[in-house]
Amino acid sequence: MKELRTQVVIIGAGPAGLLLGQLLLREGIESIVLERRSREYVEKRTRAGVIEFGTANLIEGAGAGERMRREGLVHHGVEFRLERRAYRLALNELAPGKPITVYGQQEVVKDLIALRVTSGAALYFESEVKVLDDLTSDTPYVEVESSEGLTRITCDYVVGCDGSFGVANRSIPSSIRRLYERTYPFSWLGILAEAPPTTEEIIYCRHESGFALFSMRSPTLSRLYLGVRPDDTLDQWPDERIWEELNLRLATDELPKINQGPIVERGITAMRSIVIEPMRYGRLFLAGDAAHIVPPTGAKGMNLALGDVRVLSRALLAKFQKNDDALLDAYSDTCLERVWRAEEFSNYMTQMLHPNYVDDFENGVQMARLRQAVTSREASTVLARNYVDLNSL
Ligand code: FAD
Ligand code: PHB
Repeated sequence: MKELRTQVVIIGAGPAGLLLGQLLLREGIESIVLERRSREYVEKRTRAGVIEFGTANLIEGAGAGERMRREGLVHHGVEFRLERRAYRLALNELAPGKPITVYGQQEVVKDLIALRVTSGAALYFESEVKVLDDLTSDTPYVEVESSEGLTRITCDYVVGCDGSFGVANRSIPSSIRRLYERTYPFSWLGILAEAPPTTEEIIYCRHESGFALFSMRSPTLSRLYLGVRPDDTLDQWPDERIWEELNLRLATDELPKINQGPIVERGITAMRSIVIEPMRYGRLFLAGDAAHIVPPTGAKGMNLALGDVRVLSRALLAKFQKNDDALLDAYSDTCLERVWRAEEFSNYMTQMLHPNYVDDFENGVQMARLRQAVTSREASTVLARNYVDLNSL
């Protein structure tokens, strides 16, 4: 078996793994990033779109924000729709000086990959980590499978940025690892359409037929979501049905139709909340979706993932430069406080915006909550602050 040695092994080239690699590189800490998929695959995966104020600064501070600042769409407001009426939350008044940026997650990923490739730092695609071991020793290692066979990489620290279906969190012994989980009784059908965005701002909509979300990626690309039943499949949703339902749910008296165009991508995502504690075991650290999942209604997943990486990069720096363990020791607790806040916000947004198909009492309560969120200054201020910059709260 081939053998390698590095300071930090990073499993996964999603936003978390790539940003961590970049932050460490800038401090002269050597890492190897391992990704089981191809470069093409990770660069095409359409997912998150909303970048919090503080997250955008973090990306820029890492030297990866040039295109995001140029092409990202800066938003100062967000809209909510219910009962055919539109309510705009002026984010710039409710949370002044903290606009959000709409810029696709895969664009962040492309920018980070380009930087790493240019720097010459190690990033291996189609390389799947199969084994993590000796995690409580000073010399943990991983075994990686690629077209060249098996490689063992020994290191000082292993960071699992391998998403919700990765191997890292399962390497924490079951006697220590605690999993908190909730599955919601609906999924999201997401589409990317070649249609100029109908409005300039994101729209969250609660309708008796289900949730709908209007977003965008560029002046020519709209990104839209529909809340669907958890067992729905894509063949049950031909194009005509998707547009009909989007128009039904999103319509207001002033703006009865949305712009349509060819659907160039589609997918169905289950809605889950997961937290895994602790986020550290010996010399293994978890970051991003490997440690927690939020339903996308609060637009928090990528922001949370990058928030972990900010904390971890500082902690690793303190260890490598000053041999100071304090921040590494505090990592899990530091992150979990923010993670649970984001879980709470994502859960609040999800329950409030999705009609419950079986429980009408719940519908009454959630409608009251939503009316309050869009009409009370106090309630909308809390929502806006969480929405634009939860990571920094
Ligand atoms: P991932 O992006 O999942 O990356 C993990 C990587 O690890 C993958 O590339 C995977 O292939 C790789 N990997 C896994 N196992 C191995 C292995 N054994 N060896 C090597 N590599 C491995 N978040 C927001 O903040 N805002 C939004 O607006 C938003 N909208 C969303 C909309 C949808 C429809 C979805 C599905 C998600 C959304 N999210 C949003 C969530 C966001 O996409 C995720 O939270 C984010 O991708 C987490 O990044 P990550 O780097 O932790 O994990
Ligand atoms: C997106 O643009 O993809 C998006 C926007 C807001 C969300 C989730 C996803 O809450």
